[in-house]
Amino acid sequence: MNRRPRRNRKSEVIRNMVEETTLSVKDLIFPMFLVEGSGKRIPVDSMPGIYRYSTDTLLSEVESCMKLGIQAIDVFPAYPESLKDAIATESYNPDTFYLKALREIKKNFPEICLMSDVAMDPYSSDGHDGIVKNGKILNDETLEVLGRMSLAQADAGVDILGPSDMMDGRVGYIRELLDQNGFTDTSIMSYTAKYASAFYGPFRDALDSAPKFGDKKTYQMNPANSQEALVEADLDMEEGADFLMVKPALAYLDIIKLLKDNYPLPIAAYNVSGEYSMLKASAEKGWLDNDRAMIEMLTSIKRSGAKIILTYFAKEFAELSK
Ligand code: PBG
Repeated sequence: MNRRPRRNRKSEVIRNMVEETTLSVKDLIFPMFLVEGSGKRIPVDSMPGIYRYSTDTLLSEVESCMKLGIQAIDVFPAYPESLKDAIATESYNPDTFYLKALREIKKNFPEICLMSDVAMDPYSSDGHDGIVKNGKILNDETLEVLGRMSLAQADAGVDILGPSDMMDGRVGYIRELLDQNGFTDTSIMSYTAKYASAFYGPFRDALDSAPKFGDKKTYQMNPANSQEALVEADLDMEEGADFLMVKPALAYLDIIKLLKDNYPLPIAAYNVSGEYSMLKASAEKGWLDNDRAMIEMLTSIKRSGAKIILTYFAKEFAELSK
């Protein structure tokens, strides 16, 4: 036998030398949930190990994450029903707790890379990412709301805006508005190929943000499609996105690879709530080894072409790599 691939696996040192994909905590963005008030640390039942923090407890959690080497976080707010309305007015109220918390984070940790979520659903009484009229999602009217929200978040000091709504034209609309208002340095990580997925379930529990009627299939992509991801990516590229994101990650590794092979922009992947909970549930039952499966999942996402991974495993991974 001339070729014996096993020779390159014969020792730890050689295995390390030929290892093609390395994961680093620097690749990760930690999504965190925020609630109003103080002293709160409320567990998310469907996501063991994940909590909803008030601003004060979030700040200490961020500090402990940073000590572990985490450099980037993405904060998602959970709003009470009483603050929601049909046009997400609360999303750009300068005194709203989300914007105040973003400011606080940036003030306390200027070196952190702070990402925010741009979408109507946490503030929408319909639980949708767009304005609803007669059961339909209005695209262009929604852009106006997203624009206001983006300016308010940029003003709060956010480094990267994450439009997660999937309205047409929103990246270009937001980019232009940012530039006109002097926020030329604020980046956009577009949720380029965001699929209408069952794996967002636990996240919607965490934020109480599930749609009140229907589903998100008129704006989020059909899981059966990959060519369409190229159309979305073309638009985001033209419209000025700085990063292209694929979401979810694990069931969409082919999409990550497709975008990586076709676009020069850095590709991000969102290892979503359901992917996290799936492993947590089987690990709790003793069916899977949590740490090994976590590393394998994250490595496969990176191997498929994502340079950046948004993951609820970020802190655990950071602790494990210490
Ligand atoms: C909504 C939004 C969702 C997620 C991030 N932003 C859910 C949805 O589209 O319903 C999901 C994240 C996750 O499941 O971890 N704008």
